[in-house]
Amino acid sequence: MEDYELEILISEADIERRVGELAQQISRDYADEDELVLVGVLKGAFVFLADLSRKLSIPRVIEFIAVSSYEEGSTASNSVRLVMDMRENIEGKQVLIVEDIVDTGRTLHFLVELLSTRNPKSVKTCALVRKPDRTEIDATLDYLGFEIPDVWVVGYGLDYDEQNRTLPHIAAMKPKG
Ligand code: IMP
Ligand code: MG
Repeated sequence: MEDYELEILISEADIERRVGELAQQISRDYADEDELVLVGVLKGAFVFLADLSRKLSIPRVIEFIAVSSYEEGSTASNSVRLVMDMRENIEGKQVLIVEDIVDTGRTLHFLVELLSTRNPKSVKTCALVRKPDRTEIDATLDYLGFEIPDVWVVGYGLDYDEQNRTLPHIAAMKPKG
């Protein structure tokens, strides 16, 4: 996309409020349990994970994993590839995968399958944003922030070719003219 405009879709205040609600819900659900391992999916989830994890009131540790499904720009490739694994052994642990956005559902499906083979106590999923119109694989989402239409969004960790990742809000990229 050469020439585009950014249109705010989800404001900074709305994100903050919703992340707070999700953190409360997660803290309640895991209140009587052991430590929760939050697995952030790089790079996009780093902002969401930072805010979400700091609002939790339960014992938690942070891990990161990196996958690649979009080679560059916004053209979907068919396969998901593990680019960087996490360090922690998750056997017997409670795991919450934290994603920025669920598009086709392939990435989340791949990660749930992968982490489930490591004998964790549980694997659940959390995403800030989902595009329901784009779903190809129905990966279960246990916690979801917002549903959005089928538009490319940037900000709050999300990028387009590495651009606009650190905007405080989520904006839709609209072709100009
Ligand atoms: P999925 O495997 O098709 O669900 O794709 C998920 C991944 O694609 C996300 O983790 C993002 O990295 C990327 N992605 C999908 N849609 C967008 C978007 O609108 N903006 C930025 N990244 C996106
Ligand atoms: Mg991602």
